[in-house]
Amino acid sequence: TPNDTSVPKRSPTKHDIATGRDPDRVKIFDTTLRDGEQSPGATLTADEKKIIARQLAKLGVDIIEAGFPIASEGDFEAVKNIAIETGNIENPPIICGLARALEKDIARCYDAVKYAAFPRIHTFIATSDVHMAHKLKKTRGEVLDITTKMVTYARSLCEDVEFSAEDAIRSDPEFLCDVFSRAIEAGATTVNVPDTVGYTTPSEFGSLISYLRQNVRGIDDVTISVHGHDDLGMAVANFLCAVENGARQMEVTINGIGERAGNASLEEVVMALHVRRRYYNSRLGRSEESDIPITNIHHSEIYHTSRMVSNLTGLMVQPNKAIVGANAFAHESGIHQDGVLKHRQTYEIMDARSIGLSENLIVLGKHSGRHAFRTRLNDLGYEVNDEELQRAFFRFKELADKKKTVSEADIESLVNDEVRLV
Ligand code: KIV
Ligand code: ZN
Repeated sequence: TPNDTSVPKRSPTKHDIATGRDPDRVKIFDTTLRDGEQSPGATLTADEKKIIARQLAKLGVDIIEAGFPIASEGDFEAVKNIAIETGNIENPPIICGLARALEKDIARCYDAVKYAAFPRIHTFIATSDVHMAHKLKKTRGEVLDITTKMVTYARSLCEDVEFSAEDAIRSDPEFLCDVFSRAIEAGATTVNVPDTVGYTTPSEFGSLISYLRQNVRGIDDVTISVHGHDDLGMAVANFLCAVENGARQMEVTINGIGERAGNASLEEVVMALHVRRRYYNSRLGRSEESDIPITNIHHSEIYHTSRMVSNLTGLMVQPNKAIVGANAFAHESGIHQDGVLKHRQTYEIMDARSIGLSENLIVLGKHSGRHAFRTRLNDLGYEVNDEELQRAFFRFKELADKKKTVSEADIESLVNDEVRLV
């Protein structure tokens, strides 16, 4: 990967100035309510969308893609309500709606987002040969002309316009440069590079961003955004490589929900950029020691947002999911539990409290050791001498062989006749 990190300093946008945002941070564009809602079975009511939008604003996302207003009357109303609702809060996010590169879509989109303090129109057209030939039935020349016309139209309505080249990854790179150059010329303020089918790899994505920066006219005056799906499980890694090469906006969803295998997950990219911020600050051309935040996200709201989205969409989070899975901060094996109790950093790279959890979980099961068991007994209010511990621990291991995890109630009934309460 070329890893050209020499991105010129961005001048602040109106939104940056009004909300005190640092223009050099990587912007988080949340599409839980648009692409995330495209997960099979995840339909949300307008009220549920409003609740999630409020929480996303509290989480500190820079842009909320609230829906696809032309798709249905319900989606139009939901986007409009979110635009109105979030207009009154302190430091409001930009509210964005999706529109195909068609006049009727763009007009409908603007009618919904125009109530926001900071509205954005996001318009897109496919640029890969397979999409143009079989879906759009249009030539490259026609797609170029539509890009110019529709971005110009969107800009006549709204000063913040994002343009996406759908299936950018499988598009001819030279043609992609022509399309983006046209979009920027017509007034796009953000150009988005989607990996629509989750096909790219980290170094390939990084190289493409670098290539676009060298070959698209005016690209240093706009924000480069990335959007990606997780079909091969690489969406988050792809984004991190794109950031190292100059991308400054990431399109993500809570819990990684979205079409097919989902979108890049907000919590994973944000915590990777946070936990490894010294590394990424150095990759972004800042001092290696630099501790400055890379995104505007309030990390302590992550866990709560994840639970809310899971409960309202009905989409469960797998237990071993990074950052927000039930086991993400749980230690089961005796060696790990002993290590963590002696010094957390032995087996932990982040503190569970940083994402809003109350503590890291020590799960008691058949792999647990004496140290973790004694600590849990103390937490439950029991004080044990070595002999009592030995007896209780023996009975605990017998039980743990029969049950996957041993609950606090199990422990209490097991130790009651062996030890005394403090
Ligand atoms: O995956 C995709 O290409 C999209 C675009 C509409 C940005 O969701
Ligand atoms: Zn998508």
